[in-house]
Amino acid sequence: MSRRILLSIQTTMVILVLGGGFVFTDGTRPVLIAMGPSVQPVLMILFTCDTRGALQTCGCSSGQFGGLARQATPIDAERKKAGATLVVDGGNLAGDPERALVVVKSLKAVGYDAVVPTEGDEQLGAGFLAQANQLGIALVGSMPECKRMLAKEVAGRRVAVGSLLGNNEAALNSLNMGVKQALEERVQLLVVSSDCGAAVDTRVARSLEVKEMDVIIFSRGLAEPSTINRVHLVPTPQGGKAVCRVGVSWERAKVEIRTTYLPVTQELQEDRRVTPIIAKYYAEETSRAIVNGHMRPAEQLTQPYADRDQCVDCHQTTVESVSQHRHSEATETLKSKERLVPECLTCHSELYRRTKRWHPDDPIAWSGVECATCHGDGILHSQIGTKESTTRKVPESLCRSCHTPEQDPKFDYVKRLEGIRHWK
Ligand code: HEC
Ligand code: HEC
Ligand code: HEC
Ligand code: HEC
Repeated sequence: MSRRILLSIQTTMVILVLGGGFVFTDGTRPVLIAMGPSVQPVLMILFTCDTRGALQTCGCSSGQFGGLARQATPIDAERKKAGATLVVDGGNLAGDPERALVVVKSLKAVGYDAVVPTEGDEQLGAGFLAQANQLGIALVGSMPECKRMLAKEVAGRRVAVGSLLGNNEAALNSLNMGVKQALEERVQLLVVSSDCGAAVDTRVARSLEVKEMDVIIFSRGLAEPSTINRVHLVPTPQGGKAVCRVGVSWERAKVEIRTTYLPVTQELQEDRRVTPIIAKYYAEETSRAIVNGHMRPAEQLTQPYADRDQCVDCHQTTVESVSQHRHSEATETLKSKERLVPECLTCHSELYRRTKRWHPDDPIAWSGVECATCHGDGILHSQIGTKESTTRKVPESLCRSCHTPEQDPKFDYVKRLEGIRHWK
C-alpha cells in the first residue's frame, strides 16, 4: 500500500473519531461501536418501495401508509444516529407518470442515493424515466435512462446498488453480470433491489456463487430474512408501509446484517421538505378536476342520474333517513380534507363516479354517495314510480367496491348494512 493511500485512510479515521463513532441499533437496544483503528465501520441501509402512488394517507381507515412526508422522518432520524447510510427506493412508484414524478421528487428532496425502477415503472412511458433522470436522482437498472450499477464509497467500503428484473433465467444472467461488474469495480457489498418475487430470488441466490463479496437482495414477498452463502435475502416492507433498515457490520471476517422494519404510521411527523411538493400536486389536481367539471356535457348537466330531491315526493321519510348517513357527507369529508380530487372522488362522490367530472357549482356535486349509487340512475322510476323501474337488491360486492380492504379493513357486511337501514 502506498503512503498516500495510508495517509488518506488515517485522515478519514480521525474525522470519524471526532464524529463520535457509529451507532448500530438492532431495533431493541442501540449499540455504540467505538471508532478506532482496529474497529471496522458500520453501514445502515434504508430501503423503501411500493409507494404505488400513495403520496399521503387518505384517512379512510387506520393502519394505512402514513405517506411520503412521514416516511422521510424515520429515515432522517436513522441518518442522524448512524454514521454512514445508503438510502434506496425499490420502485413501483405510481400508476401514472405525473404522480410517479411526485414520488421521485419527494425521494430526491429527502436525499435518496438511488431509485431502482421496476418493469411497471418502465411502463409509465418513454418520457417518464428521462424526466426522472433530469431531477438528478440516480436511477439504477437495465433501462437506457439508468445506470447499470451505482458504486460508491460508504463507511470506508465500496458499496454498489444494482437491480434484478425478469424471470428465473434472465434474473440469474443479469445478477451474474452485475456481480462480475461489481467485482471489476472492487465492490465489497452489492445491494440489489429485486422485482422478481421471492421464489425466483431464492433460486437465484442458491445458484449464485460469490466468494469475494457480499450481496444483499431486497426480495418482494419473501417471508423472512435468510442467508445463503454470502447472499442475504431481505423481505421488502409489506405493502410499502415501512422503512426497512438493515445494519451492516464488518466486525468479523464476513458481513453481518440485522434487519428491522420501521412502520410509516399516521402518527409520525411530516417532513417539511416533502409536504410542499405533495400539497402543490394536490392543488393542481383540484384545479384539474374543477376545470374538467366545467366540461361536463350539457345533456349530462341536466341528468346524469336522479338525485335525492327527485325521490322526496314519494319517499320522504326514506330520504330523511338516508340524509343522516355518513354516505351523504362523503363529498363534504373530502372538502374538509382539501382533497376534492379524482383519486378520492371516485368513491366519495356519485357524480364523479358516473361522469368522471366534478364541479363545486354543480347542483348535485355535494350529495356524496347517493341513492343512485345503490339503486340505479332512477330517472325513469322517479317519473313513473313503478317497482320494476328501479333496483332494490344491492349486491354485497357493490359495497365492497368502495369498502375495500385498504379503505375499510374491518368492513362487516351484515353489521354495516344495519348502519344504513332505511327499509322495513
Ligand atoms: C376505494 C374507495 C375509496 C377511496 C379511493 C377513498 N376513500 Fe375515503 N373512505 C372510503 C370508505 C369506504 C370509507 C368509510 C370507512 C369506514 O367507515 O371505516 C372512507 C372514509 C374516509 C374518511 C373518514 C370519514 C370519517 O369521518 O369517518 C376520510 C377522511 C376519507 N375517507 C378521506 C379520503 C381521501 C382524502 C381520499 C383520497 C385520498 C379517499 N378517502 C379515497 C372509501 C374510499
Ligand atoms: C312518483 C313517486 C316516486 C318517486 C319520485 C320515486 N319513487 Fe321509488 N317507488 C315508488 C313506488 C310507488 C314504489 C313501489 C312501492 C311498493 O310497491 O312497495 C317505489 C319503490 C322504490 C324502491 C323499491 C323497489 C322494490 O323493488 O321494492 C326503490 C329502491 C326506490 N323506489 C327508489 C327510489 C329512488 C332512489 C328515487 C329517487 C331517485 C325514487 N324511488 C323516486 C314511487 C316513487
Ligand atoms: C361508491 C362507494 C360506496 C359504496 C358503493 C358503499 N359505500 Fe359505504 N361508505 C362510502 C364512503 C366514502 C363512506 C365514508 C363517508 C364519510 O364519512 O365521509 C362510507 C361510509 C359507510 C358507513 C358509515 C361508516 C361507518 O363506519 O359506519 C356505512 C355503515 C356504510 N358505508 C355501509 C355501506 C354498505 C352496507 C354498502 C352497500 C350496501 C355501502 N356502504 C356501499 C362509500 C361507499
Ligand atoms: C349504500 C347503498 C344505498 C344507498 C346510498 C341508498 N340505499 Fe336504499 N336501499 C339499500 C339497501 C341495501 C336496501 C334494502 C335492500 C333489501 O331489501 O335487501 C335499500 C332499500 C330501499 C328502499 C326499499 C324500502 C322498503 O322498505 O321497501 C327504498 C324505497 C330505498 N332504498 C330508497 C332509497 C333512497 C330514496 C335513497 C337515497 C335518498 C337510498 N335508498 C339510498 C341501499 C342503499
